[in-house]
Amino acid sequence: MIIGLRPLDGVLSANYWNTRSESLKGIFFGNHFAGGENSIQRPFYFLRKFKIVPFWKCLNALSFAGMRALTTDNSPKMISYEKIFENNAEWIAKKKATDAEFFEKLAIDQNPDYLYIGCSDSRVTAEEMMGAKPGEVFVHRNIGNLVVSIDVNVMSVINYAVNYLQVKHIIVCGHYNCGGVKAAMTQEDMGILNPWLRNIRDVFRIHKEELHAITDSKKQFDRLVELNVREQCINVIKTAAVQKQFIHTGYPIVHGWVMDIKSGRLIDLQIDFEKELKGIQEIYRLI
Ligand code: CO
Repeated sequence: MIIGLRPLDGVLSANYWNTRSESLKGIFFGNHFAGGENSIQRPFYFLRKFKIVPFWKCLNALSFAGMRALTTDNSPKMISYEKIFENNAEWIAKKKATDAEFFEKLAIDQNPDYLYIGCSDSRVTAEEMMGAKPGEVFVHRNIGNLVVSIDVNVMSVINYAVNYLQVKHIIVCGHYNCGGVKAAMTQEDMGILNPWLRNIRDVFRIHKEELHAITDSKKQFDRLVELNVREQCINVIKTAAVQKQFIHTGYPIVHGWVMDIKSGRLIDLQIDFEKELKGIQEIYRLI
């Protein structure tokens, strides 16, 4: 267990890094307030902030709560609602400092070369991990980075990106440790998620021989993430918009990526777009 003292907000906090470890591993000093869902530090922070309770009482309260109550998780520090607008003001100032007319130019139009279709997972940011600037990537995200032919949302995005923005590349990006993929591997009724996750279960069914041959459950999970990306790429290629535009212009090219959440690394699955296009044309040719 690690106990943390955070002098900036005056809150004694404890991070329960390893629930199975009973040994005290260290004490650290930090300067950020952040409470996880199970944190006991959040109420003390507000008491401290409004000077209702002196800091030593927080300490007393902490003692009272006892070590058993120290259930702060070790998830990333959550940004406060107010801080978002402070950050926004800083971002505006920073952009204007490098280019005074940044926003005037941004407001004129968008002309991105990339359509990114990724998972809604909060850890897998599109532009940030790609190092892309505003205006460079058209983004669509949903649970499990799915491309479903009767989903008006994703189909509208693809059609607009291909026909009007004339993007050069379409990327389907999945990620390891995907909750959507994990849920689809679970034998459980998940209510409204059932029809959505069914698309991932279908990917499993199509590739069940390969997946059942993998005995390591983590590796099987990772492989399903990759195969799901591949099948969603094929779903993009099945669309009339992509097929037509490619015949006329040689674009867009469809790519499949996986983000390795533990390292941040983007892995290109090297999907051979033209080969895949030819492979599906027997059945899915729409032009
Ligand atoms: Co996900």
